[in-house]
Amino acid sequence: ADPPLRDLAAAKGVYMGTALMASELSGTSASIAGTQFDSVTPGNEMKWDTVEPSRGTYNWAPGDSIVTFAQAHDMQVRGHNLVWHSQLPNWLTSGSFSNDELHSILVKHVTDEVTHYKGKVVHWDVVNEPFNEDGTFRQDLWYNQLGVSYIADAFKAARAADPAAKLYLNDYNVEGTGAKSDGMYNLVKSLKQQGVPIDGVGFQAHLILGQVPSTFKANLQRFADLGVDVAITELDVRMQTPSDAGKLQQQANDYAAVVNDCLGVTRCAGITVWGFTDATSWVPSTFPGQGAATLYDENYQPKPAYAAVRTAL
Ligand code: XIL
Repeated sequence: ADPPLRDLAAAKGVYMGTALMASELSGTSASIAGTQFDSVTPGNEMKWDTVEPSRGTYNWAPGDSIVTFAQAHDMQVRGHNLVWHSQLPNWLTSGSFSNDELHSILVKHVTDEVTHYKGKVVHWDVVNEPFNEDGTFRQDLWYNQLGVSYIADAFKAARAADPAAKLYLNDYNVEGTGAKSDGMYNLVKSLKQQGVPIDGVGFQAHLILGQVPSTFKANLQRFADLGVDVAITELDVRMQTPSDAGKLQQQANDYAAVVNDCLGVTRCAGITVWGFTDATSWVPSTFPGQGAATLYDENYQPKPAYAAVRTAL
């Protein structure tokens, strides 16, 4: 049989990952995931609303099931995520906490989750989506109550809990140069100057057909030049559905371009697709009228994009 994506990627010095949900750990999805990929990001299972549904009560089982699967298939785990504005538990969003309390809640959460997965998670998305489109900080509860220092504090707590884990900042619409990417660049530069323990920057890459930014590789490189690793963390390429042969060929070209951009940057650690099959992709429910965004169709058959990724690797 042809070598799987993970072997081709490894030969180029990068990992090839996928998002995976606990509902996909058996049958066809499990067999493709465990064969083709050497890194897994839990789609939802390590998010705060899942791991601490009521205050002080932890629900590690869903995330643990992903870790167990990964270990059984010799895959790394990319932990996702520790601090975000979305998928927070109700007790947190509907509670009213003093700034000091909220700071303690944040540090405790990061500490407890990273400690639980110590030695099992290779890369952590520590802070997810902290920017507005214009490059200013998102006015979420963390920024509004704690100010920008919440970011440094999250990274410090994560480092203290698992010194070996690679700690990442992660966002979307930062793939090409522009205001949002500049905002992220300035933050990473300032964190590095302050000695904050950040190891990498994740570029989600939820892309639109035919719109891979021409500046993607140069942008990855300018971050790498700050002394951090970079990774493509949530790649998909959505289109108006239904797909047709022309769109699928464009999508193949787009996936290949992203792989080449990563391979062109020495510090690009790897690529993760945000689901490998159209059967379970998050796209149709989030972007009505769009879909067909992944490497395999709804029947788990490889699409032209799969072949193009193989060729690019
Ligand atoms: C998405 C999941 O795929 C969906 O199942 C869930 O309903 C919403 O979140 N950016 C991220 C991911 O960082 O966590 C999101 O995942 C997709 C966008």
